[in-house]
Amino acid sequence: MANPLITQFAGLNLSNPTMLAAGVLGYTGLSMKRVIESGAGAVVTKSMGLEARTGYGNPTVVQTDCGLLNSMGLPNPGIRHFKEEIQELNKLAAPTIFSIYGFSPEDFAEVAQIAVDLGAAAVELNVSCPHVKKAGAQVGSDPSLLMDIVKHVKKQVNKPVIVKLTPNVTDITEIAKASEKAGADAVCAINTVKAMAIDSETCRPILANKYGGLSGPAIKSIGVRCVYDIFDSVKIPIIGCGGISNWQDAIEYMLAGACAVQIGTAIAFQDITVFKSVTEGMTKYLEEKGYNSIKEIVGLAHKF
Ligand SMILES: Cc1cc2nc3c(=O)[nH]c(=O)nc-3n(C[C@H](O)[C@H](O)[C@H](O)COP(=O)(O)O)c2cc1C
Repeated sequence: MANPLITQFAGLNLSNPTMLAAGVLGYTGLSMKRVIESGAGAVVTKSMGLEARTGYGNPTVVQTDCGLLNSMGLPNPGIRHFKEEIQELNKLAAPTIFSIYGFSPEDFAEVAQIAVDLGAAAVELNVSCPHVKKAGAQVGSDPSLLMDIVKHVKKQVNKPVIVKLTPNVTDITEIAKASEKAGADAVCAINTVKAMAIDSETCRPILANKYGGLSGPAIKSIGVRCVYDIFDSVKIPIIGCGGISNWQDAIEYMLAGACAVQIGTAIAFQDITVFKSVTEGMTKYLEEKGYNSIKEIVGLAHKF
């Protein structure tokens, strides 16, 4: 029987619908190669910008009862320094998606062009980081600025453009609709949820940057709700992300309307074998339910 997990959307061909989420193990070519060899259908790089950034001082990550709180501040070497890392990946069958950010529409377009020149199969616009001023969520909650960015990037490159949405808005469907209207090929929901932690002994906020983004099991139900709502609002494909730890979580996102899923924090709590266990579980689920393809279950929860 043909592989029931093979997935095509927005011009991407994936051997299965799981992807590495941005910022978790996406710093080096070697780590992303390991993720692909462990069974991921695609990888997304750490978000890259034009210039190098050191990010915030420590502490940048706090472990909570049900997830991680991070405020890294987008540390990265600058996209041009990523050339050596990508060379290994370009030889592999799974697509590499470059997560990019900028401080203006022109910035985004320039970074996107460099990403495509380096071999990006698609670009994912990080307009949803909850803790970097003038980039990230501040941009991703302003529909007209977001549309300007998407239009600039679409005009510049001829690869699929994915918009990664922030849940830190009143109505995520408005932002998804603006992305689609501006020409985005897909959206990814969700990035982390703005949050904080305070130490009871020292009475101080724990993160050096005070606020951070919550990820992991704590946000799964928020992500599923966002995907469910977006599914009714746009026609472009949706990638689900947020708190996926096992195959049941991945299936839940697909029933809500996602055609692929990204996994980040579960790698820290388990390890990269999570891709294998999720894809094996999905295959078994499809077999037991009598489906021939994963596409058949996308959005099924909307029948009720
Ligand atoms: C340590 C860490 C760093 C992250 N860095 C980025 C990033 O650079 N760009 C981005 O778009 N998302 C970043 N994210 C968000 C993840 O890609 C993902 O959207 C979020 O963590 C929810 O998925 P998860 O619960 O599976 O981790 C980061 C998350 C973590 C935990």
